[in-house]
Amino acid sequence: MPTRDDVMKALEAVIDPELRQSIVELGMVRSIEIHANGVADIMVSLTTAGCPVRNHFQTSVAGEARKVEGITHVNVSFDVLSDQEKGSLQQKLGRSGGLPTGALARVDNVICVGSGKGGVGKSTLTANLAAALSAEGKRVGVLDADVWGYSIPRMFGLGSDRPPVSPQKKILPLEAGGVKVMSIGFFVAEDSAVVWRGPMLHKALTQFLQDVDWGALDYLLIDLPPGTGDVSMTLAQLLPQARFLIVTTPQPAAQKVARRAAEMAHKVSLEVAAVVENMSGFTAPDGERYPIFGEGGGQALADELDVPLLARVPLTMPLREQADAGTPLVAVDPDDPAAQAVRQAARGLIALMPMDLPVLHVEPPAAEAATGMSLPMAG
Ligand SMILES: Nc1ncnc2c1ncn2[C@@H]1O[C@H](COP(=O)(O)OP(=O)(O)OP(=O)(O)O)[C@@H](O)[C@H]1O
Ligand SMILES: [Mg+2]
Repeated sequence: MPTRDDVMKALEAVIDPELRQSIVELGMVRSIEIHANGVADIMVSLTTAGCPVRNHFQTSVAGEARKVEGITHVNVSFDVLSDQEKGSLQQKLGRSGGLPTGALARVDNVICVGSGKGGVGKSTLTANLAAALSAEGKRVGVLDADVWGYSIPRMFGLGSDRPPVSPQKKILPLEAGGVKVMSIGFFVAEDSAVVWRGPMLHKALTQFLQDVDWGALDYLLIDLPPGTGDVSMTLAQLLPQARFLIVTTPQPAAQKVARRAAEMAHKVSLEVAAVVENMSGFTAPDGERYPIFGEGGGQALADELDVPLLARVPLTMPLREQADAGTPLVAVDPDDPAAQAVRQAARGLIALMPMDLPVLHVEPPAAEAATGMSLPMAG
């Protein structure tokens, strides 16, 4: 007959992806009851009722507990830490560090827009989603993490203006249509190749997150470079609370590639929040619809990942034209079919991530607050 301690020991393997410690260590295992038939009732305490990683806990608590010999079935239930418990958790974490600190402490939702391969419309959708969220009254920032092939400045009509620096020596994002934007493109001469890798890349991204004064944001959207490499790993380390929005085109082959992005997100313990399908058919002026890139890939991927498909964004000329012209289509012609689909995706995102819940924030220790800047800040 397995004991409470056996199960507790097994739960040490369940890591809170935001706090990066075992739920046992964090004191989040409220109760364990084991019945004679091997059924275990486990209650886990969350930091907030709308805890975005609730599903992760559900799966991994059940999974780890079931590994204990003699456990036949696991029921996982949840409650919320009391204010006092939250206080002592904060104290504990304040010493060891672990929660988002500094500038990002005032950002409620971080969403990485990624895909398995290039050219599927990540940047276009990021820019338009930002405009759509802003139109819904949300405070939005866009971080262009495509340090090699940045395209966000152009899509927002921001040239090569250098962002201002505040008296506190923080870099201030540029603004376009109410959206705060930061990109490596603001710091390098146009068309110059940026070949940052490894530690340099890590440092640049760290600066974008820590030395940029994003202020209070409801959403920070991060436009990822194509593929699943270094940037995502670094961001996952810096932003364990970030979630992934996966963009795919409708054909089955693309869906397979997009699945790799999901696997990568999983590997670095970031949660995949949803899928958006892009380039979902083209409707000709005569009304006939052509599924140029096939059909069904987005839904198939969403089903497989067990996350919602937020929208299917059709191919339209204005979406591309406006991206080139420098104002997201959503802001110019919200009734264009592609703009409508992006607005639907934005509303879906809002529904997925309620923000009116208390968030556990920790201020950074004063000594860590000031860091030197190494981005090219001449002039
Ligand atoms: N639904 C759409 N309708 C028409 N054009 C589109 C659509 N989505 C994207 N495009 C166009 O396709 C091209 C590629 O889009 P975008 O640059 O956003 O892709 P990406 O995934 O960010 O690429 P990369 O992987 O290189 O960063 C752009 O010219 C864009 O305007
Ligand atoms: Mg891009």
